[in-house]
Amino acid sequence: MSAATALLRSGKPPETASKDAEQHALHPELSSAHVRFIGLGKTYAGQSAPALDGIDLNIQRGEIFGIIGRSGAGKSSLIRTINRLEQPSTGRVLIDQVDIGAFDEDRLVRLRRRIGMIFQHFNLMSAKTVWQNVELPLKVAGVAKAERQRKVAELLELVGLEHKHHAYPAQLSGGQKQRVGIARALVHDPDILLCDEATSALDPETTASILDLLRDINQRLGLTIVLITHEMAVIRDICQRVVVLEHGRIVEQGAVWQVFGNPRHEVSKTLLAPLQAALPAELQARLQPQPGSVDAALVLNLKVSGSERQAPELSTLFARLGGRISLLQGGIEPIQGRPLGQLLVSVANSPHPAEQIIERARQWATQVEVLGYVD
Ligand SMILES: Nc1ncnc2c1ncn2[C@@H]1O[C@H](COP(=O)(O)OP(=O)(O)OP(=O)(O)O)[C@@H](O)[C@H]1O
Ligand SMILES: [Mg+2]
Repeated sequence: MSAATALLRSGKPPETASKDAEQHALHPELSSAHVRFIGLGKTYAGQSAPALDGIDLNIQRGEIFGIIGRSGAGKSSLIRTINRLEQPSTGRVLIDQVDIGAFDEDRLVRLRRRIGMIFQHFNLMSAKTVWQNVELPLKVAGVAKAERQRKVAELLELVGLEHKHHAYPAQLSGGQKQRVGIARALVHDPDILLCDEATSALDPETTASILDLLRDINQRLGLTIVLITHEMAVIRDICQRVVVLEHGRIVEQGAVWQVFGNPRHEVSKTLLAPLQAALPAELQARLQPQPGSVDAALVLNLKVSGSERQAPELSTLFARLGGRISLLQGGIEPIQGRPLGQLLVSVANSPHPAEQIIERARQWATQVEVLGYVD
């Protein structure tokens, strides 16, 4: 553990005996789920359809958990029940097995300090400096000045903004603003961090650096991270498990490699479509359902769904199919240590007939789709 991390963990303001008791209850030695939703429902006033409907879900301590779904599916509503920014209509939310539904204002304030949150639009105060933005929640909580200074300096170092103490938000890039947001979310040593579209306003390179930071925080501080995003690559790169919501219900959930490798629900398939390899438009236009000549090449989509931990060997594929094999599009990459991806290939001049090529390809790939023929 680094010095910064050690200080982060130790620098809590003194707590009363009852607060200690509550903290103890919030941190049992053995807890099965960090956050647990039981039969959770939410219907907003004036709305006929529920925003959340019968959600049963466990989020484990220390995991990075993704929530995806179409716009309006209920993602933000769900995440906001964890710190009770949203009050459920039915069901319960348990944090470390404690039902937070019965919390009074005082306990809610303390609960919310244990749960950091970051947003798409950073929500920084434009008239305050980076330092003041991070310091503010500590001031509100009545933390003494020396302690505040120590904490803010550590956090700004942790997020890589030690050289920006006196800058104002308008003088920062999007990525730097989100780093301030992350530092501010960590001031009370939370053990849960909620991220609602936290990288959606950032370019891909900045997104990658913020994801590195979140991964680092998750590992160094042992934080549970619950993350909403419409960017499937973010889920792929950082999450261990993912849930898919539609009309306030869970339609699919599982390890990221499983859901991404073999999405079962229509919504999951649609959401994940942008990650799928597609034939180049020029080739797509030339594709025919039947071979136009004896030299026509068979075009196949070979899916590798991570069911094996070993990357499948290309030499085996080539030997099985025979003839001239060209890679048209696609690739395989490890997700959670499992090879996942698609290879769009054409096979020409094989000694085997088409049905046999397809059968042989099935022995190599998890799924084989026949796209057609090109001359
Ligand atoms: N304060 C509110 N009052 C009334 N209806 C609301 C309120 N907040 C959300 N809703 C409705 O609840 C449903 C779920 O909204 P929610 O914001 O949770 O969706 P979301 O999945 O986060 O969508 P997005 O991807 O667009 O952020 C939507 O139909 C929305 O219109
Ligand atoms: Mg939302």
